Amino acid sequence: RPFAHPDKKSPLACGEVALDALAKKFGTPLYVYSADHIRYRSGLFTEAFAGQPHLVCYAVKANSALAILKLLAAEGAGFDIVSGGELERVLAVDKAAAARVVFSGVGKTAPEIDLALRSGILLFNVESEGELELLAERAAKLRKRARIALRVNPDVFAETHPYISTGLREHKFGIDIKRARTVYKRAAQQKWIAPAGISVHIGSQIRSAEPFGAATDRVAKLLLQLRKDGLPIQFLDAGGGLGIEYHAAQAFNPEEKVRQYAAALRDAVSRIEGLTLLLEPGRFLVAQAGALVTRVLFVKKNGEKTFVITDAGMNDLIRPTLYQAHHEIVPVTATKSRRKLVADVVGPVCETGDFFARDRELDAVKPGDLVAILDAGAYGMSLASNYNTRGRAAEVLVEGKRARLIRRRETVADLLATEVL
Ligand code: LLP
Repeated sequence: RPFAHPDKKSPLACGEVALDALAKKFGTPLYVYSADHIRYRSGLFTEAFAGQPHLVCYAVKANSALAILKLLAAEGAGFDIVSGGELERVLAVDKAAAARVVFSGVGKTAPEIDLALRSGILLFNVESEGELELLAERAAKLRKRARIALRVNPDVFAETHPYISTGLREHKFGIDIKRARTVYKRAAQQKWIAPAGISVHIGSQIRSAEPFGAATDRVAKLLLQLRKDGLPIQFLDAGGGLGIEYHAAQAFNPEEKVRQYAAALRDAVSRIEGLTLLLEPGRFLVAQAGALVTRVLFVKKNGEKTFVITDAGMNDLIRPTLYQAHHEIVPVTATKSRRKLVADVVGPVCETGDFFARDRELDAVKPGDLVAILDAGAYGMSLASNYNTRGRAAEVLVEGKRARLIRRRETVADLLATEVL
């Protein structure tokens, strides 16, 4: 884990950089990321898929900080985007990376499609027949050929939170796998559309490799059928979704996880020649590389309950509120025979749902102490909002002994700047 105490007396550090020093310099709440850990995670994919032509297309939505995109682009990663905004982020970092971009999402608009066509992205993951029509129209207009994959819905159940499960017929995502062949045939008739792939994504925070294997197996069969129909399908986009372990008490070995995941996928595609696998991991690459550092403002008691009130709130990290997600919360100062307390850790936002943990046993903390909310590198800052007119946190990227600000703290002036009186 990238966040640890270098020794018993030292404060929690990200690599070689102590978090209390960062909090002092940049203020709180503060997102801190380890560049080394992101590189390490990205390397795990490279190793596990060695020998199998593949491209890792990092899911930008997990953490879209430009500095992180740049780091991953330098590792050779491509990107999975879901909006024109995310594409502009990729282009701002590395224009040439457009050739490694796949575009997912059920609601692409004409301007977004145009930008993607002009940028020459690798693949559109088309999610409906309506979208296919619009894409064909825009591509003809711009005289740009669009390589497409249909995102099929494999009707595979994967154990995860219902809000982030996507692979069942009742979900809004993808095209029913049974209809896919018909839609491909129609796509192939369009002059400016080139069917080149097939894609699937069954959900997020999935911890077992088995459903990935099942879904990939289903699309692999369809792929072979499509090739028989005469379509040159070269790409199989297996989506993202590989989960992590948020509970410190549970063992988690990322190397083994990726290996099992890769084995399940490779098994499913082993019979297919001339195939390039596309992978869209988000969380797995960045979640554990990040922590949200926050200061305790007050510790208060209401009857039986104790509340630890921090300066970070649900607008900074909404995962506990939205998905009842568990995040470990640890003190930043060294832990020598601390007392324990059982408390709700809550933010300053005026909502009962503004919490990071409920009835959690924690090392006792007092006002002024710093705590770190761990595994916050994915879907933390990228889901942050300005609710309660709170500026979004600053972000720091740590590389070895160096820490640098990659996004300054938002000011209230920033927030007011877009408004008209
Ligand atoms: N590809 C597609 C088409 C996706 O929809 C997603 C995530 C990914 C890739 C990346 O999935 P990952 O590898 O990160 O699991 N906010 C939620 C997660 C939402 C995931 C949305 N789609 C959370 O905080 O748990």
